[in-house]
Amino acid sequence: MKKSIKKIVSLTKRKGFVFPSSMIYGGFSSTYDFGPRGVMLKNKLKDSWWKEMTRRQSDVVGLDSSIIMNPDIWRASGHLSKGFADKLSECKECHKRFKDLEEDGESIKKCPECGGKLMEPRDFNLMMKTFVGPVESEAATAYLRAETCQGIFVNFKNVMDSMRVDLPFGIAQIGKSFRNEITPGNFIFRMREFEQMEMQWFCKQKEADDFFEKWLKRRFEWYERMGIDMSKLRKNEIGEKERAHYAQRQVDIEYEFPFGWGEIEGIHNRGDWDLSNHSEHGEEDFSVDGDYPWVIETSVGVERCFLAFLVDSYDELEEGRSSDADKKETVLRLHRKLSPTQVAVFPLIKKEEDLVKKAEKIFDDLKVDFDAIYDETGSIGKRYRRQDEVGTPLCVTVDFDSLEDDSVTLRERDSMDQIRVDIDDLKNVVDQFLKGADFHSLGEKV
Ligand code: GAP
Repeated sequence: MKKSIKKIVSLTKRKGFVFPSSMIYGGFSSTYDFGPRGVMLKNKLKDSWWKEMTRRQSDVVGLDSSIIMNPDIWRASGHLSKGFADKLSECKECHKRFKDLEEDGESIKKCPECGGKLMEPRDFNLMMKTFVGPVESEAATAYLRAETCQGIFVNFKNVMDSMRVDLPFGIAQIGKSFRNEITPGNFIFRMREFEQMEMQWFCKQKEADDFFEKWLKRRFEWYERMGIDMSKLRKNEIGEKERAHYAQRQVDIEYEFPFGWGEIEGIHNRGDWDLSNHSEHGEEDFSVDGDYPWVIETSVGVERCFLAFLVDSYDELEEGRSSDADKKETVLRLHRKLSPTQVAVFPLIKKEEDLVKKAEKIFDDLKVDFDAIYDETGSIGKRYRRQDEVGTPLCVTVDFDSLEDDSVTLRERDSMDQIRVDIDDLKNVVDQFLKGADFHSLGEKV
């Protein structure tokens, strides 16, 4: 089965994961809204990353800093200078700007849109500008953050002093970042507004190389634990010329998307670039025992990660596999910790009042602790397929035996195997399964 972005875009829209933004006004280039299922998947991704960083690693603490900060921060970090810019050619007539306009190694002189004359390529900064206060003047110009970590660097001393942490330690943050990308695209892969999950690890210079290796390994382990196909993941050591302006070493973690390999996460050794620059330009000395700490950073885009997990889990079965299936079926084989809905509850027959009552009661009970859904329309086979398509790992069916013996059938998405579980024990069984227990160990096979 060949995976295509077109099919995945269609599924995500149809099933409430991702909607193109501003559609009733004709859309807005490369912006997307996350629907109910998209929010649930995004939140689970973020929750898993957060726990990985701040629980598994006890010396990483959290932060939530502002999106709009003092613009001097971006001067000190180098983002307002050449380091964070794209070389673009602007058309003298229509003023559109273009990147990488070359043919046979020669730069193109005519605008591809209107045929007007193109100016020599110039640097255009990627920072998104805004104005703070009532006057739109140069002095009131501010920027939407282009990476979350500058908020971490400027709070380095606040965190150290208030949390009594000592080197080595880390600060983690999840939040929106903005870049005026010239060529956004590939669905949610490159956007102008996106979310980052970043962790800055502060350590002594002599420990930096070892910590780089450690974090690189840890990040691969996380992807593996979250069920990604590891043959679709690779490291890309970035050469000196291509590296970000702050990086002494950069390894990108790339996923093989249907449109090719693409970076989903960057591991960077930022040296003392940030803390020394902020110490020089700001009013705080960030040195510790006379030296600036070095920083190893792990930085992953939530939406790119979301797309990688969606592509990875997407499966299509030509023949269908439920007994009443007559056509192609789609299964989203998402890791059980990521599935938007964790458990679905069905009465076998909608018209049987006793079955419906019992199923509703079970649903009311489950939804307090889990992301549960109730569905009574269509055949059982159809209802299973509906849940398979959105990645729900467990389905509970209340049948006539349930009225006699207070047990239900629990069906697992990937194996389609079914076990019988006592209703009294159902919450515990679902909980054990979501924590990783083997499905077959949780009840008697039907
Ligand atoms: N603080 C380091 C930093 O921001 P980066 O490589 O520029 O490094 C890190 O960005 C991650 O943020 C990328 O690996 C990617 O997942 C995500 N990202 C960057 N630009 C993006 C964009 N325009 N749209 C979506 N995600 C983006």
